[in-house]
Amino acid sequence: MIKGERVTLRRLRDDDWPRLEAWAEDPEALWGPFQRFQLETARALKDAYDKTGLFTRESGLLMVEPAGGGEPVGVVRYTLHPLIDPDMPTPEIGFVIADRSARGKGYAKEAASLLVGYVFSRFPTHRVSAFTDIENTPAQHLLESLGFQREGVLRRSMFRGGTWSDAVIYGILRSERGA
Ligand SMILES: CC(C)(COP(=O)(O)OP(=O)(O)OC[C@H]1O[C@@H](n2cnc3c(N)ncnc32)[C@H](O)[C@@H]1OP(=O)(O)O)[C@@H](O)C(=O)NCCC(=O)NCCS
Repeated sequence: MIKGERVTLRRLRDDDWPRLEAWAEDPEALWGPFQRFQLETARALKDAYDKTGLFTRESGLLMVEPAGGGEPVGVVRYTLHPLIDPDMPTPEIGFVIADRSARGKGYAKEAASLLVGYVFSRFPTHRVSAFTDIENTPAQHLLESLGFQREGVLRRSMFRGGTWSDAVIYGILRSERGA
């Protein structure tokens, strides 16, 4: 469990599944307008949860809960990504506040920040990456407000809404984070 001022990150539990399935089946919850809605995600996640608890060295999914108590509002995740060299994967993160009534309260920003801190403490990496759709202004504001730098555009690399769109790659270095 990782505790912040506004949110707590914790591992998934069996009783999270009805909520997670509902989020995964709602295009506006787990995905939002800038990510491709993926129908089979709930099933794939459940299979992985049954095998690994969705928390391994290679990847992890954590629930985001308001620190003062209450129902979970979203998830954060990390994946070791073979960005350049498959033998030297680097962590990449993602974040979603699936409960739309909980957006705009600073939950995602603190959850992502706690995750970045965790990743730097766990892995001997110099950087943490994040990808976002080029039109995903909320995610880009969040990353930039955490000190991530916009490093480049991966043209026509994300498929959503029947078309290919550009993605932006962001990164933050251990030295920039002071970790
Ligand atoms: C992106 C998302 C996680 C932001 O969650 P949130 O809890 O509303 O974000 P926060 O309240 O923590 O805000 C973080 C920062 O982003 C900014 N921000 C949030 N929503 C914004 C919006 N719609 N437009 C512009 N900036 C926005 C906030 O102002 C804040 O910046 P600040 O600290 O400089 O004031 C949420 O909109 C979401 O879940 N979207 C769908 C899934 C998704 O796209 N995930 C990202 C994939 S890369």
